Amino acid sequence: MITGGAGFLGRHLCARMLGAGVEVVCVDDLSTADDAQPRGLRELAGRPGFHVVEADVSRGIPVGVDIDAVFHLASPASPADYTAMPLHTLRTGSAGTEHALELAAARGARFVLASTSEVYGDPLQHPQPESYRGNVDPTGPRSMYDEAKRYAEALTVAYRRGHGVPTAIARIFNTYGPGMRAGDGRMIPTFVRQALHGAPVTVAGDGMQTRSLCYVDDTVRGLDLLARSDVAGPVNIGGPEELTVRAVAERVVAATGGRSAIHTVGASPDDPRRRRPEITLARSALGWSPEVSLDEGIERTVRWFAGRTDVPAAAASNPDSRQRAVETDIPAEVER
Ligand SMILES: NC(=O)c1ccc[n+]([C@@H]2O[C@H](COP(=O)([O-])OP(=O)(O)OC[C@H]3O[C@@H](n4cnc5c(N)ncnc54)[C@H](O)[C@@H]3O)[C@@H](O)[C@H]2O)c1
Repeated sequence: MITGGAGFLGRHLCARMLGAGVEVVCVDDLSTADDAQPRGLRELAGRPGFHVVEADVSRGIPVGVDIDAVFHLASPASPADYTAMPLHTLRTGSAGTEHALELAAARGARFVLASTSEVYGDPLQHPQPESYRGNVDPTGPRSMYDEAKRYAEALTVAYRRGHGVPTAIARIFNTYGPGMRAGDGRMIPTFVRQALHGAPVTVAGDGMQTRSLCYVDDTVRGLDLLARSDVAGPVNIGGPEELTVRAVAERVVAATGGRSAIHTVGASPDDPRRRRPEITLARSALGWSPEVSLDEGIERTVRWFAGRTDVPAAAASNPDSRQRAVETDIPAEVER
């Protein structure tokens, strides 16, 4: 079972599992869906062994079949989404995670939580090992997401210790690739969309804040390896190559073959200055490290977006008014 299976990471994980001959139950409420999501699901729906249950996991998970593993990915993940849906985000991380854990406990299934580097907040330790406890503002502008994930981690550990559920926690760092929503407000789709249209690429603040990016195939391979192991984690899954946001923008512009200028816009609240995972544990316990270089990953992503006819030139033309309202407040690359 993959909760959030209709989302960006979820669809890639569903495809990977189906490709390995594993039957998949995708549970999703399509709460952050645009028209790309149903289309992505329709593509998967043609494959044998794929089942979709439309449900909000915070209200319960109406799945009656046997389950070997639960990948719990359901949660708004883009700042535009979780800022627009703070209560939904908190309920999904709390009640939604508990429902997924209850189901894993009842079926004797392995449970993998998709946690996030956001649990480290604006880190005071660099790079971030799993032992770092984080620097999170519980009432800050990202608190609905950061605290929901921290609570979800605590729940996951409680079910392991108290109920013997074989749980695992993956702390996923910034992942990108084909299949992201063009208007979801995250850095890579925003930069790619702007560069493909020859528009200025907008970076927040001075653009010298850093991010470490991981290509989606590498991230879902990490989740798969974690599920098949007996590692409890938390385990960082992320790319260890650290780049400034400005450098990422330059690489995207180069990959499109365009000549977009890079413009700076207002710095975003609570935007972490530095992010880089320490991945020693993933290497030693899972034999995992990223395989797709940043240049290759950006090229594949640009190719995917360029092949689509429905990528709006500007986020403001996105028909989803919820995103439109938020994106005017949040600079382009505000994200994990
Ligand atoms: N993509 C990244 O860079 C990244 C980084 C760190 C952590 N993560 C985590 O990985 C998971 C997937 O992220 P993504 O990038 O694919 O996000 P996404 O927004 O593309 O997908 C999330 C999916 O969850 C579904 N969802 C949300 N609330 C739900 C609910 N209450 N019930 C059922 N479905 C619900 C949405 O409809 C969507 O299909 C999230 O938990 C996110 O926090 C992602």
